[in-house]
Amino acid sequence: MQVVKTVDELKNAMFRIRPTGKTVGLVPTMGALHEGHLSLIKRARKENQITVCSIFVNPTQFNNQDDLAKYPRTLDDDLKLIEPYVDFAFAPTPEDVYKVPATEHYDFGTLERVMEGPMRPGHFNGVAIIVKRLFDWVQPDRAYFGEKDFQQIAIIKDLVRQYKLPITIVPCPIVREDSGLALSSRNKRLSEDERKRAANIYKILKASTQLETTKVADIQKFVADEIAHNPGFKLEYYEIVDGETLQILSDLNDSDSVVGCITVYVGEVRLIDNIRYK
Ligand code: PAF
Repeated sequence: MQVVKTVDELKNAMFRIRPTGKTVGLVPTMGALHEGHLSLIKRARKENQITVCSIFVNPTQFNNQDDLAKYPRTLDDDLKLIEPYVDFAFAPTPEDVYKVPATEHYDFGTLERVMEGPMRPGHFNGVAIIVKRLFDWVQPDRAYFGEKDFQQIAIIKDLVRQYKLPITIVPCPIVREDSGLALSSRNKRLSEDERKRAANIYKILKASTQLETTKVADIQKFVADEIAHNPGFKLEYYEIVDGETLQILSDLNDSDSVVGCITVYVGEVRLIDNIRYK
């Protein structure tokens, strides 16, 4: 594995790879890597001849400076973890990535007007800025993203469509602890007790798929009531949406692809998860 620290070094490395005709898989991350990230990296390695993993806590996608400051940074451990699977680890500084100022403005229409969009103004523009820059620098054949960030995948697929990029977006299933808690770098910020109880989020989502009703309002009420029974939990939203358009549904029968997306504060930590109804 070669550790690449600057954008110029990355562009030079990819410039040397391209004439070989080898396929390139990119796994963009913000570090604090766990088994969930490793599942993306292993898949990228299986499906491509060269694997690139970026590790960069991207300031432009944080609308809360406290959240940015507290985001876990564990570069040395991250590099050790990915070393057996990755050809290039790209770990730049914010100064280098944003030597060219972040003035890009993206428009994802209705995709960004629901769920995380209104809750985190500017978040998806920041994600699009870094992902588009990484795509331009690496020019991968495939790029891998975890389905925990369900809305992010829809936005990135739209980015690829809008700019007609020859890149296949590969969504990868959520990896969970045995308890059911979705793996997330933010879990590191939970106390032991909070981490145990955070597993209730997935239990509640699973139970909601077993209800007799198809009415979204009833399912939302069930989820909200169950979350409220957990001290220290605060539900931000639970929306049931079309799996492609992210349009908010009022009945499960309104689409063939239906996903429930939740955001819950457990103590001070904001966790997201989702579950498929069909
Ligand atoms: O999902 C993430 O970790 C980030 O949003 C991403 C895609 C690496 C962009 O910074």
